[in-house]
Amino acid sequence: MGRVIVVGSINVDLVVTADRLPAPGETVLGGRFAQHHGGKGANAAVAAARAGASVTMLGAVGRDAFGEVALEALSAEGIELTRIRRVDEPTGVALIAVGPRGENQIVVAPGANAELRPEDLGLDGLAGRGAVLLANLEIPMPTVTAALRTAAEAGARTILDPAPARALPSDVLAIGAILTPNEHELTVSIGNDDPVSALAELTQRHRGAVIVTQGPAGALLAHGDVRSRSPGFVAPRVVDTTGAGDTFAGVLAACLAEGRDLDDAITMANGAGALAVGAPGARQGMPSRGELDSFLATAERALSEED
Ligand code: RIB
Repeated sequence: MGRVIVVGSINVDLVVTADRLPAPGETVLGGRFAQHHGGKGANAAVAAARAGASVTMLGAVGRDAFGEVALEALSAEGIELTRIRRVDEPTGVALIAVGPRGENQIVVAPGANAELRPEDLGLDGLAGRGAVLLANLEIPMPTVTAALRTAAEAGARTILDPAPARALPSDVLAIGAILTPNEHELTVSIGNDDPVSALAELTQRHRGAVIVTQGPAGALLAHGDVRSRSPGFVAPRVVDTTGAGDTFAGVLAACLAEGRDLDDAITMANGAGALAVGAPGARQGMPSRGELDSFLATAERALSEED
């Protein structure tokens, strides 16, 4: 079983579906309200655990009811939580509107997530050779940098899901983690609005692999001047795309930790992302390893039957 350490955010998601998403300044009447478990870090941790990894989560929640609910949900997935900090700030909350094609708008109050400091990480003895450390950008950048650097120096493989979109400082790029931006995050990460030249610039300044996620279109793997495409999968249902990127990152980490090569891990992460969008909330549609394996087996058969 591969070992994955996730350093990232833990939120509670307050979600309303609507026939269309509001424009700035507009109010639309929505459908039912639902509370879901969320946070890009915690979502990725769940995706990795369901894919079969042994997962440790490093993050922070408040000493409030949302903090309890969030930790109970992670514990139920078998995720190791002994290094989670409880702080005086409230647990992170995301306000999410979901439109008719599963698209969303999200505003996050980071709360406790913003309190996670580099000195809270305690990565000694945790992130070593064979482990994969995955971080995202809903926590402070110095904490992300320290986590990636410590893990890389200890011989662990590192992944940075640069979400939500932020410019990536050169000391982060110097670490050489695998990056998993979507197209928007790619352009923001390097400050260049054109995705093609942004990718060229990023792969010049960053010595690790860059995997640009493209939803149903799959993913583009770029390393230096080399590019290769990993085709996506048609999602059986699209209900809510919230958490699809987190699923991709978590499953990628789990598959690399179990020793699969990058191409194989990307295929599995693409498959998991296609399944994740099939149910409401960020985590409900994330597949178990069995569900993922049988989905991929069917998808491959469908391809070879067409051939
Ligand atoms: O990526 C989806 C997540 O972003 C949601 O769960 C929400 O909490 C925000 O962090």
